[in-house]
Amino acid sequence: MPEPFRHLFQPLKLRHVTLKNRIVFGAHTANMSEAGLPGERHRAYYEERALGGAAMIVVEPVPVHRTAVLTRGNFKHSTDEIIPHFRKVTDAVHRHGTVICHQLYHVGQHGDFDNSYEPNWSPSGLPSFHDSDGSHAMREAEIEEIVAGFVEAARRARESGFDGVELFAAYHALIDQFWTPFSNRREDRWGGSLENRCRFSSEIMRRIRKMAGDDFIIGLAVNMEPSVKASLSMEQLQEIIAWHDDRALMDYVTCGTGSYFEFTGIIPNVFFADKLGVPYAEALKKVVKHARVQAESHIRTPENADYVIAAGQADMVSIVRGQIADPHLANKARDGRAGDIRPCLSCNQMCWGRRYRDYWISCLINPSAGREFEWGGDRFLPAHTPRKILVVGGGVAGLEAARVAAERGHQVTLIEASNRLGGQFHLAGLQPRRGQIGDFLDWYARQLEKLQVKVLLNTYFEPHDVEAFGADEVILATGSQPGGHGFQRFLPHFDKLPGVDRGNVWTAEEVMSRQARLGPRVIVLDEGANWKGGGTALHIAEAGHRVTVVTPAASVMMEMARTNADVQLRQRLRQLGAVLITEAAIREWHGDAADITVFGGKDMRIEADSLVLSTTNSADTALADALSATTVPYRMIGDAVAARTAVMAIYEGRKLAMNI
Ligand SMILES: Cc1cc2nc3c(=O)[nH]c(=O)nc-3n(C[C@H](O)[C@H](O)[C@H](O)COP(=O)(O)O)c2cc1C
Ligand code: SF4
Repeated sequence: MPEPFRHLFQPLKLRHVTLKNRIVFGAHTANMSEAGLPGERHRAYYEERALGGAAMIVVEPVPVHRTAVLTRGNFKHSTDEIIPHFRKVTDAVHRHGTVICHQLYHVGQHGDFDNSYEPNWSPSGLPSFHDSDGSHAMREAEIEEIVAGFVEAARRARESGFDGVELFAAYHALIDQFWTPFSNRREDRWGGSLENRCRFSSEIMRRIRKMAGDDFIIGLAVNMEPSVKASLSMEQLQEIIAWHDDRALMDYVTCGTGSYFEFTGIIPNVFFADKLGVPYAEALKKVVKHARVQAESHIRTPENADYVIAAGQADMVSIVRGQIADPHLANKARDGRAGDIRPCLSCNQMCWGRRYRDYWISCLINPSAGREFEWGGDRFLPAHTPRKILVVGGGVAGLEAARVAAERGHQVTLIEASNRLGGQFHLAGLQPRRGQIGDFLDWYARQLEKLQVKVLLNTYFEPHDVEAFGADEVILATGSQPGGHGFQRFLPHFDKLPGVDRGNVWTAEEVMSRQARLGPRVIVLDEGANWKGGGTALHIAEAGHRVTVVTPAASVMMEMARTNADVQLRQRLRQLGAVLITEAAIREWHGDAADITVFGGKDMRIEADSLVLSTTNSADTALADALSATTVPYRMIGDAVAARTAVMAIYEGRKLAMNI
């Protein structure tokens, strides 16, 4: 039998250590500090990925100075108080043979006063691209203060047991601001020539090496975003990396995508191609003689990663979200079980989506992420007493409950009224660019089969069937149904949309399940400002209809701004000629036209052949209501409790099954 992913599982020498394979859990702000210190949440999160086989982990960044604080979850800067707490993290990760480095950061002009209560410091006083606040052009002594801040942070990392540090220059952070002529307009020894622009980074690196000695990794995180003219070009970045490499200043360089000027590319969503950062890593590999090169950004799978290593495009690969979604990705790939890897959806809903709102991060499809310390990781304890469990409903709540219960040794039967698994999430997976959801549902089907869960499709149980089944536990995951009434939050005095019964009205669910017969001109009511409305509108527009989207939000798919996918979705809709009407509600439907109220503006009438409603569903409680009249006990999860997103459905499915 051929060895799985032969190239990916070759060891790699990196300065004084040897990585057991090429898979890195790259730096990301998990935002998990408690009162500024790494606690149990943080330790268990990283230990789970070490246990899962990652060769190296780069722990989320610590700010190097008071002006570098960026998030509420940041660790305390400039204090040795963090050292004993980080020691627990590094010891735990080392126990599994995993190398651990610490990212050190300062984002310069792009800081956040709300969290630092300090002005942003930068080379030349340019504004922040987060909020357009101006920044303070550093004096010489202030530059020295920041250099010293990096070195002190590296000392703390060393004393905490880290094997090295990764200096954050990516996305136009402070180091990059010195390199880039656009943001470095200085005429002193820190600006102008290449050597002067590299002085800041090289001083940091030289002084860290002097402080730490030979047995300490110095990594460098950079990025490439060709669409931003003000940023470094690939040739300029190559020149800078070669300059540092000639002087053997860093041991590895990793190249991300996107930038603070083009944020969506940093954590690529479903609109981006796989292996996004690989061409840039490959370009850097051509100019280095000393440093290892890491590829990152949307590498996603061991198949992609193995290809990158085999083709010599990079020496190692960072897979961040892939290992948030499945902490055991590396070991499963190594053991020939790649089909068991729970595949990240590139949805950004609970990883970046939570960091964006300054919470600690988690994962839509792996709710144990961030909860490893209390939920015992992405592994489950065997049940005390195996029980006979009936799960009613094959949406993601039911699938997760059935999977986890079976993994714990229960005897599980799952019944589903329709002819396929996935429920609402299956329909979401039919929206443009969302095919990864289909892969995830296939993963569930494989897992249930392996775990010998009895799956009965096209099966509808009446209360007496449930009673006759004789389960020890009945889990109702019966989901929700579209109301079809067109209720809108901003016209709450109407129980239903006036005129909704006049015909030519469909639900988003009917559109995605191909039951709707739409005319050429379609209005989509995107009440939730989310994927259901936005993705359905895109599906209709791509099928050639003339689409008008009406939403009460300030932008179409605004609720998904946390995922960055909203930007591309709107761009794509506009390219297809769709009209986007925001901060508006539909006052009345006439069967062939809609009266639209724009809040604070003029009302308008838009003629259309069809109206598609993307509104909040209603929980399907029919079976629960009927069972309540019997003696059969049951528990409910997911949309059957209240119509929400897949996030809560999977969370509730796992939580319940862990506790039976
Ligand atoms: C929640 C989150 C926070 C991130 N924060 C950082 C960060 O602090 N430093 C950094 O260099 N990259 C950060 N990244 C970017 C990742 O390192 C990586 O480049 C990105 O997630 C794309 O890789 P992936 O497709 O393997 O997830 C972050 C990513 C995520 C998902
Ligand atoms: S929340 Fe979505 S994008 Fe983030 S790790 Fe989980 S599946 Fe991947």
